[in-house]
Amino acid sequence: MRVLGLETSCDDTGVAIYDSKKGLLGHGLASQALIHAPFGGVVPELASRDHVRKTLPLIQAIMADGDTQASDIDGVAYTVGPGLVGALLVGAAIGRALAYAWQIPGIGIHHLEGHLLSPMLEPKPPAFPFLALLVSGGHTALADIRGPGRYTILGESLDDAAGEAFDKTAKLLGLGYPGGPAIARVARGGTPGRFHFPRPMTDKPGLNFSFSGLKTAVANAVKGRDLDEQTVADIACSFQQAAIETLTIKCARALDETGHERLVVVGGVSANTLLRDRVSEMAQQKGVREYYPRLEFSTDNGAMIAYAGYLRLVAGQRDTFSFGVRARWEIDSLEPIT
Ligand code: KG4
Ligand code: ZN
Repeated sequence: MRVLGLETSCDDTGVAIYDSKKGLLGHGLASQALIHAPFGGVVPELASRDHVRKTLPLIQAIMADGDTQASDIDGVAYTVGPGLVGALLVGAAIGRALAYAWQIPGIGIHHLEGHLLSPMLEPKPPAFPFLALLVSGGHTALADIRGPGRYTILGESLDDAAGEAFDKTAKLLGLGYPGGPAIARVARGGTPGRFHFPRPMTDKPGLNFSFSGLKTAVANAVKGRDLDEQTVADIACSFQQAAIETLTIKCARALDETGHERLVVVGGVSANTLLRDRVSEMAQQKGVREYYPRLEFSTDNGAMIAYAGYLRLVAGQRDTFSFGVRARWEIDSLEPIT
């Protein structure tokens, strides 16, 4: 089975073709980083308009690259939530229209299911069940993954997501958008220990997160201070350490509580190499095996949507001609894939 996957939930247009026998036949991404950078964050209307401009040409390019004809495609998968409604509508409308035109099934995919399953595209995918640490720009969660479509959230952020904390801190430091990669880059030149920021909620039991206090601590450190290059690097370095240590501590606690022997770390922040290093050390100490998507599939992409779509379509699931998108959508409520 060959599935075309479309991802347009936020500021990246992602397109991929997944073949159940050959794996990924092609994938591509049109990033909107330069469009949103002058505004310091994603401008929803500009995101929708760029998805309108980019999605169809990218589909054509990926099909040409993989030498795929329309008649070779057996199904279309498109992200229908959670995300920006206007942006989601572009991918969902194009996906549904192609499914209708090509007379093939189409299915709407939960964006976070795409992230959770992204390590399945790697040469050595994890076996089920496993614990997932999902860290993206919109979500931070620890989840019990019992099988495809069977997800239970064990803990999540009560306020800002981890990626959001990176983005807001970068903005405070004048590092621009997107913030995560910028913080990681300048933090390399920082002096650890010059600033100390809290590790929120690590002293309380439970698996929930809170990152707004960390952001406030950074804002207080920045206030009235001359932000010379070294100070920016020092603050970025201490912030990154605090955020990553918090994630690692909660992840270790979830492994202890669940007894899982496999851990996957997914979502945009999983592209952070310090996070990967810290989580690796922790997992190795516990004898737990860790799995990550390749770096380019940590952040948003069409491949994870094509793969999740393949699993659902091959199980006989499909959407009707009418479709809707959802800004918010609980992942626990998904139909299991049998
Ligand atoms: O998964 P993703 O591409 O989009 C959402 O579903 O939200 O995640 C984007 C987030 C942004 O907040 C971005 O700053 C963060 O991932 N990010 C990083 C890194 N690369 C991307 N955060 C920390 N370090 C990175 N290297
Ligand atoms: Zn994402």
